[in-house]
Amino acid sequence: MTPDEKKIAAAQAALKEVPEDSLVGIGTGSTANHFIDLLATQRPDIRQTVASSDASAARLRGHGIEVLDLNAAGTLAVYVDGADESDKHLRLIKGGGAALTREKIVAAASTRFVCIADNSKLVDTLGAFPLPVEVIPMARSLVGRAMVKLGGDPALREDVITDNGNLIIDVHNLTITDPVAMETEINQIPGVVTVGLFASRPADLLLLAGDDGVTQLSR
Ligand code: 5RP
Repeated sequence: MTPDEKKIAAAQAALKEVPEDSLVGIGTGSTANHFIDLLATQRPDIRQTVASSDASAARLRGHGIEVLDLNAAGTLAVYVDGADESDKHLRLIKGGGAALTREKIVAAASTRFVCIADNSKLVDTLGAFPLPVEVIPMARSLVGRAMVKLGGDPALREDVITDNGNLIIDVHNLTITDPVAMETEINQIPGVVTVGLFASRPADLLLLAGDDGVTQLSR
């Protein structure tokens, strides 16, 4: 199976995790895009969603699916999204698509977080994937220096402005042995909007697609 076929398989498996007639939170990225396309064709009962990015909102609307403002939505039944890395405790690195802040907000507003990925995303220790941090533009250098103190090598993501008008710093060469502590520490730095560690609120279910089918990991 190609990586893309695995993403489709994981997205297909996630359809079963969506309660009938429910309000669904939708993630961002290539795996989430497959989920959107499958939802549109296979789940006519799902008519209302909340999206974690402008790109996902546009894709949903292109299928004729309504996208609500989160403030008008209340609690969502389920949030379905991909990840850049997951450990076996379903703690994630996200933000490869620069949507980490809205992703974390929509995940927090959802009763359940179902993560969908191909099996290359499962790691023993988080951090081989550069850790994305969304920062307010004027704090770019300040946050970069703080990342160096934490042992990382920060790099500004070129030509990227988030949906919230901010910058992304990708922090290379971190070995994240205590993801909850690191998430808390980075989130406290002035100018940081969100760090792409989803550890305090990990996924509830990971659907991991490989050559032998889709494996379920849950907390
Ligand atoms: C976007 C994300 C994505 O979920 C993550 O980058 C995975 O993307 P893909 O499904 O394309 O591999 O966090 O901000």
